[in-house]
Amino acid sequence: MRSKHQISTLFLIAFFLFILGCCASPRKNTRSHRPCKELVFYFHDIIYNGKNFKNATSAIVGAPAWGNHTILANNNHFGNVVVFDDPITLDNNLHSPPVGRAQGLYIYDKKEIFTSWLAFSFVFNSTAHKGSINFAGADPLMNKTRDISVIGGTGDFFMTRGVATLMTDAFEGEVYFRLRVDIKFYECW
Ligand SMILES: *[C@@H]1O[C@H](CO)[C@@H](O)[C@H](O)[C@H]1NC(C)=O
Ligand SMILES: *[C@@H]1O[C@H](CO)[C@@H](O)[C@H](O)[C@H]1NC(C)=O
Ligand SMILES: *[C@@H]1O[C@H](CO)[C@@H](O)[C@H](O)[C@H]1NC(C)=O
Ligand SMILES: *[C@@H]1O[C@H](CO)[C@@H](O)[C@H](O)[C@H]1NC(C)=O
Repeated sequence: MRSKHQISTLFLIAFFLFILGCCASPRKNTRSHRPCKELVFYFHDIIYNGKNFKNATSAIVGAPAWGNHTILANNNHFGNVVVFDDPITLDNNLHSPPVGRAQGLYIYDKKEIFTSWLAFSFVFNSTAHKGSINFAGADPLMNKTRDISVIGGTGDFFMTRGVATLMTDAFEGEVYFRLRVDIKFYECW
């Protein structure tokens, strides 16, 4: 027959094993990899080219020594910095009513290949959405689709995080391009 003391020791050991099993092992990511919310938008970038001031929504603000602020530089535009305030639409039509603005910058950051880096926000102030979604990440333009980080949000998008898949939906020379943005939030509040 076991004494009371032995039984409580067994319980204690079992308890510590349970604690070890649950918490001392390397923390596994138990979060689901299914998005909690998905949104699709388009935004339209019309680069100032010396002739389209009224129509332009973005401007070259930085250029390497071999370039200028009117035309994107040679060598895959390396060294150009572009600031934009682009209309966001729900479909791929530039003339659809804008639902917000995509505001921020992109920089071309590699001489050898056509690639850029993006840092911008979607700013909404409509009945459908109020607040902002903040994005950042590398944009390897030769890839059909590129994933960038959704690093946070405010207002309706308070504390959201996730991934946005970009796709160049259309472009006209070096003056206009349209991006399709598939946003998947993996953290919602
Ligand atoms: C800008 O550079 C391009 C060549 O890259 C040139 O054709 C154009 O004339 C330059 N524009 C100005 C305003 O210097
Ligand atoms: C959002 O829109 C409302 C109503 O049109 C306006 O009063 C408010 O100032 C706007 N907020 C921002 C941040 O633009
Ligand atoms: C580039 O596209 C391929 C598929 O076409 C994808 O597997 C890869 O993750 C993409 N790279 C980046 C950096 O988005
Ligand atoms: C503005 O730019 C876009 C894209 O290049 C073009 O389709 C549109 O016709 C332009 N609008 C005006 C008024 O020039």
